[in-house]
Amino acid sequence: MTDLNDRGYSDGDVDTNDTQARTLQSMAADRYSRRQALFRGAGATSMALFGTAMLAACDDDSEVNNAPVVTPGAAAATSAGRVVTLTATTNALAIEGAWAQTGGPAVTLTRVDRTTATFIAPAVAQATDLTFTYTTSTHAGPDASASSTVRVNPAVLGFAAVPKNRDDVVTVPAGYSVTVMTRLGDPIVAGLAAYANNGSDADFDKRIGDHGDALAFFGLNAAGGRDDTSSTRGLMVQNHENLNVQYLHPNGPTNVSSGPRPREEALKEMMAHGVSVTEYVEGTGRKWSYVQNSRFNRRITPATIMSFHGPAAGSALLRTLYSPEGTRGRGTINNCANGVTPWATNLTAEENWAGYFRRNTSENTSRDPREVVALTRYGVTSSTGNYAWSSVATTDTLFTRWDARATGASALEDFRNEPNQFGWVVEIDPYDPNSVPRKRTALGRLGHEGAFVQAVPGKRLAVYTGDDARNEYLYKFVSDTVFAAGDADATDRLATGDKYLDKGVLYVARFNPDGTGTWLPLVFGQVPPRPASGSNPAYVFADQADICVNTRLAADAVGATPMDRPEWTVGNPVTGEIYLTLTNTNAASRPLNRTDAANPRHYNDPKGASNAAQYGNPNGHIVRLRENGDDPASTTFRWDIYLFGADAADAGADVNVSGLTAENDFSSPDGLFFARRTNAAGKVKPMLFIQTDDGALTDRTNNQMLAAIPGSVGDGGTRTITNRDASGATAQQATIAGAPATAATLRRFLVGPVECEITGIDSTPDGRTLFVGIQHPGEDGTPAAPTSHWPDSQAGGTVAATVRPRSAIVAITKDDGGVIAL
Ligand code: FEO
Ligand code: CA
Ligand code: CA
Repeated sequence: MTDLNDRGYSDGDVDTNDTQARTLQSMAADRYSRRQALFRGAGATSMALFGTAMLAACDDDSEVNNAPVVTPGAAAATSAGRVVTLTATTNALAIEGAWAQTGGPAVTLTRVDRTTATFIAPAVAQATDLTFTYTTSTHAGPDASASSTVRVNPAVLGFAAVPKNRDDVVTVPAGYSVTVMTRLGDPIVAGLAAYANNGSDADFDKRIGDHGDALAFFGLNAAGGRDDTSSTRGLMVQNHENLNVQYLHPNGPTNVSSGPRPREEALKEMMAHGVSVTEYVEGTGRKWSYVQNSRFNRRITPATIMSFHGPAAGSALLRTLYSPEGTRGRGTINNCANGVTPWATNLTAEENWAGYFRRNTSENTSRDPREVVALTRYGVTSSTGNYAWSSVATTDTLFTRWDARATGASALEDFRNEPNQFGWVVEIDPYDPNSVPRKRTALGRLGHEGAFVQAVPGKRLAVYTGDDARNEYLYKFVSDTVFAAGDADATDRLATGDKYLDKGVLYVARFNPDGTGTWLPLVFGQVPPRPASGSNPAYVFADQADICVNTRLAADAVGATPMDRPEWTVGNPVTGEIYLTLTNTNAASRPLNRTDAANPRHYNDPKGASNAAQYGNPNGHIVRLRENGDDPASTTFRWDIYLFGADAADAGADVNVSGLTAENDFSSPDGLFFARRTNAAGKVKPMLFIQTDDGALTDRTNNQMLAAIPGSVGDGGTRTITNRDASGATAQQATIAGAPATAATLRRFLVGPVECEITGIDSTPDGRTLFVGIQHPGEDGTPAAPTSHWPDSQAGGTVAATVRPRSAIVAITKDDGGVIAL
């Protein structure tokens, strides 16, 4: 058995071409020279497979026998997800021939030429032999055949770790290529001019928005219909969370603090938010591009008409001057992470919406005390609102709606309730550009980071969603309706969403110190009043709509566990275990005496040459949980901490609990993605990608993405950490840590450009193209002096110092065509 796992090419006519891009010609030349040795030196396994045709070759009298000669390959080994090339060597009598599989898990053989075929090694749980036979055909006379055996081992991380760096490019491992796809401002309608990228562009309702965040690839077939198996054509749905506003105008925004904002500036900023749908296609040479004039392309903006569904639809809490019935609204804002349903809709999550509204505490006396409790809890307290859009001198409610003060005689004459129209999970049908997005109020109103859907046929469906602010909670919605597999193929996708996402129970998580956890129901009649807090009186819930609108208050009332900023949630496609990033927190929010088992650290990560102090949990961690009975509807679970972020060069054992090294240390985990179950990376032990949104380790590296092969809940054990605060005081905290990371289980795959965040990820179903979002490169620069020139800088060479950076998606492919990261 010839082990080819380690990238060093060895004997045999079977190629496993993992990361090196090699021409077919060079591989064929190698094979020919090795063939000579094979005749005399092949091992017993190979010889046993050769058969009569091989013997004829040894005798070199095939011409006399009038039989073609076919030389098989020696046996070889590879691992799941890698490209294997089968090559036969024949004499002149063999005019045609083909490879066929004769044993082992079925693979798809791709014919390259008369003697060569390739396949991608399948997922296997243990070393598994696949056998293949090459058979010739001739004008006359007997055919000949010979066989090869390929041993496939379980998937491993198959790339060299990318070093930390602060370069202004996306760095990926050797053997991989990066293609820049849709960028901020790219036109997505026919005939619209390319983005000038100097602040002069408008029309963001027809261009890609800013701050690309979560993304999802929805397959299309050649006829333009939904095709979940397509890896060459699809719709890219991307959130546009926020703005690098300084680069959107010629010299940055004007009148932000004093107002009034110029109408055209405010409109441009508004329209650069929301969601985009863009068609992507793979062309010749596996080169991806987007289709500017696709009929599917769409911008969903803060002005797009939407409807409300679930318990809060029609509630008095949602009624405004624009929506007196409280069942419709305009737009979506600060869209962060996402979710995808089995029926192929996209869930977009409204995260930091509270800051967009103008309000101040001086109007508290004129409002219902219950409203004040809610507005305070959600942080609707800005005196201008982000970007001050409501300061535009106009009566156009597209702008005045961002003023949430109670200025009219009732809620129907102003926009005091407009903040209640945001903070939702919104369902979008990407295949129907005319569909009206639906806000799913049953999933609660919070700073939704994302919405991971766990759908198991025959069980009730669950949606997990983090609330990203310090000391907020993890939530789970469980549908009343049991999931029927056939609904995945429903053609009325949003009606299917009504079936599963409008009726059910919303829970919030409590993490117990013994590694168990409880889902606490937020059901009217079961939730006690939220106790008085500071100057705020107790809050008594009026009905289920009130709980859906004021979800944070209900979660407070039932005693949920405050977490270190809950970000993305994802589920392991094999085990069903849920992973939750807790990106970081500061010392005020997690002081030494308020750690707990699930948020166990308080420490310093010194930064930069001056060793600037960063106390709290600046590096974050990743919790995972397993529902009891593996039932998404379970009300109890087990948990542990899968990984602890750390600066490996600075951290001692009480901080670097996971044993990170220079090859895999990270800080502030945020985006998460498990490989799709449709390819070798998503089976047996699925691969997990971890993206960072960090400011603590940025003295050593730009933000990054790691690839991991995780174990499962309970693969480590209990651990007691000694925490230390800025005064030198110490405290002990017990926790439950997962198995330490190793080079085999966690490796840095990508480093982004200057001042970016890595966020947003999906792959094609075959796992051979990975789409990754690069958000806000150069976020600290100015129009006159941009601090990044990415993506123009990606190609290398000289880029003018005035070129402005743009958020963009990259398509990453492996040069040999294999599955990414394997
Ligand atoms: Fe938009 Fe919590 O990241
Ligand atoms: Ca440090
Ligand atoms: Ca995020």
